[in-house]
Amino acid sequence: MQLQRVSIIGSGSYVPEKILSNSDLEKMVDTSDEWITTRTGIKERRIVEDGVSTSDLATRAALKALESAKVSPEQLDLIILGTATPDNLFPSTACYVHQKIAAVNASAFDISAACCGFVYSLTVGYKMVSSGASKNALIIAADALTKLTDYTDRATCVLFGDGAGAVVLQPHNQGHELLYSHLGADGSGTDLMILPAGASKMPASHKTVDERLHYIKLRGREVFKFAVIKMADLVIAAVKECSLTLDDVALIIPHQVNLRILESAAERLNISMDKIFVNIHKYGNTSAAATAIAFDEARNSGRLKKGDIVVLVAFGGGLTWGVNVIRW
Ligand SMILES: CC(C)(COP(=O)(O)OP(=O)(O)OC[C@H]1O[C@@H](n2cnc3c(N)ncnc32)[C@H](O)[C@@H]1OP(=O)(O)O)[C@@H](O)C(=O)NCCC(=O)NCCS
Repeated sequence: MQLQRVSIIGSGSYVPEKILSNSDLEKMVDTSDEWITTRTGIKERRIVEDGVSTSDLATRAALKALESAKVSPEQLDLIILGTATPDNLFPSTACYVHQKIAAVNASAFDISAACCGFVYSLTVGYKMVSSGASKNALIIAADALTKLTDYTDRATCVLFGDGAGAVVLQPHNQGHELLYSHLGADGSGTDLMILPAGASKMPASHKTVDERLHYIKLRGREVFKFAVIKMADLVIAAVKECSLTLDDVALIIPHQVNLRILESAAERLNISMDKIFVNIHKYGNTSAAATAIAFDEARNSGRLKKGDIVVLVAFGGGLTWGVNVIRW
């Protein structure tokens, strides 16, 4: 089979208007702006209003991406949505987006890869377009983590925010080409980040609600170490696979998890923080959406110049990880 080259032809992102600042959190749990800022780099995050779900965020980002790509919903033949916070366990959140944008000719499915939802979905979409199975693919990453966050647990509630990002893929004609993707996982880390209750393993009951098991549980310190090493190793391996060097990379767009993780990874890579896109101070960790929002913001703020080598890299629950290399 003749594989085709693939381009990103448009992007969009959306975050809710409502801001939850560190000083707001100081009034809710025993924490401080100083602790949150120095330990995470986060100053504020966006949170959804009651009644708004992941598919609403996804739809907003999707419509912006379609507009920027000049593609209509009817032209889409594929929707892939990466999320850890689906509207429901089923049907897929991609099907809700399908309905909301009237993408009547598209197939639609979700990918569950936690914070790697965007790089996983982008990679699957890339392979679908590359093989000729799709000609107009909408790739979305969206999460409403704050709906599943325990606002009595200071160790997790300061970290998360909500949002969505999307891109449109087509067979390559000019610029913005996806050059390389790699995905990985380590199932021995399933307990490090988990939503214990509410699905088939531990169905909802009074007991699970009383024990607050419908909220995110996180072993942050262990994830921290994994993330620093993984981010650096993934970038090094990806540029090597593309016969490039770190000097050829104009910008790394990483999962926005913790500023200290990004700084430690930059140190391991021996590169300046100028080459690492950071917006965690504004949004916190928006899970799958983080890399997609960062990509869209990098593009809109003029950080991506024609011919630039851009590396998207993510790591998260599962454990999962992934990397994409783009020539802009
Ligand atoms: C969560 C994270 C910010 C915690 O930072 P840390 O430096 O590892 O802090 P620790 O967990 O070791 O906690 C240090 C102390 O701060 C306290 N603490 C935790 N959260 C706090 C908060 N919001 N405010 C004040 N103190 C807090 C802890 O109780 C602990 O106190 P102790 O020393 O008296 O026991 C950090 O580990 C992290 O970012 N991990 C990765 C995040 C992640 O997994 N994201 C999701 C997947 S990508």
